[in-house]
Amino acid sequence: MTYTVGVLGGGTMGSGIAVVAARAGHRTILRDLDDERVGAGLDRVTSFLDKSAALGKLPSDVAEKAKSGLSGATDLADLADCDVVIEAIFEDVELKRRTFAELDEICKPDTLFHTNTSTLSVTAIAAGSSRPERVVGTHYCNPAPLMKLVEVVTGRQTGADAYERTRRFLDSLGKTSVTVKDSPGFLVNRFLIPFENNCIRALEAGRGTVESIDKAVRFGLGYPMGPFTLLDIVGLDIHRAVSLSLYEQLRDQRFAPPPLVEQMIAAGHLGRKTGRGFHTYDDARHFGS
Ligand SMILES: NC(=O)c1ccc[n+]([C@@H]2O[C@H](COP(=O)([O-])OP(=O)(O)OC[C@H]3O[C@@H](n4cnc5c(N)ncnc54)[C@H](O)[C@@H]3O)[C@@H](O)[C@H]2O)c1
Repeated sequence: MTYTVGVLGGGTMGSGIAVVAARAGHRTILRDLDDERVGAGLDRVTSFLDKSAALGKLPSDVAEKAKSGLSGATDLADLADCDVVIEAIFEDVELKRRTFAELDEICKPDTLFHTNTSTLSVTAIAAGSSRPERVVGTHYCNPAPLMKLVEVVTGRQTGADAYERTRRFLDSLGKTSVTVKDSPGFLVNRFLIPFENNCIRALEAGRGTVESIDKAVRFGLGYPMGPFTLLDIVGLDIHRAVSLSLYEQLRDQRFAPPPLVEQMIAAGHLGRKTGRGFHTYDDARHFGS
């Protein structure tokens, strides 16, 4: 089945998710607040597809089809025909609730509403919609075009039909999904955030360098990339926000962002998006491909 997919937010996650949807052959509409942000998001999507084709990781005809099915929008009304709308906007519960309430007025009655929140309650977000049974959490791992996993989060009011249709939609994207409880950090961030903060604390304490810790994790634990490479993709500002949100909800020191994170943010070393984080970069690519 081919879907019409609306992606809200053309930032790191929205543009990554738009790659995934377009690459799967779905008509994909990327919506952000103004033309400049829509253009920047679409550029990230098309350059990723072009690069994947140039490297032989994606057949050129698939990349061309993906690009031809891709469009941008600033007007929410352009998402009226969508079968699925995936929200990847700022991590702000009121903004997300308001956005789903607006979509209630625009979308078809059976449109699936997906939220990519990292730290907020899916139940709380769904409460903003007059159709909470259609709201499902789908938490993509960053970088979305490269990581297979999506956590499926059912809120208290999520319906069985929306859940089943969500699983089928994620299958169509080639994703592997796991169903998790609507609790702070879901599953992956409950492991990942303390792990990353421990790696940063090891660096602060001088127990290793950025390079040696990345190498140890890749070759000792078999992870596809080291923690500092991943943190640079995620962005130090986002890591801080996720850590603080979980720390406030769980009151567990392991989630408290270490001082080095604050210093790096103050220096503007946010990661790939600013050309420098733990590592330095020649360009501001987002997906680490
Ligand atoms: N960065 C990560 O590693 C990561 C991983 C998983 C989930 N998430 C979640 O994904 C969401 C987006 O995170 P991000 O890192 O992509 O943020 P980002 O700041 O890179 O992008 C957010 C985008 O949303 C746009 N936006 C804001 N309000 C909007 C609206 N009403 N309609 C359309 N666009 C709007 C902004 O202009 C911006 O381009 C957050 O909920 C975050 O918690 C992030």
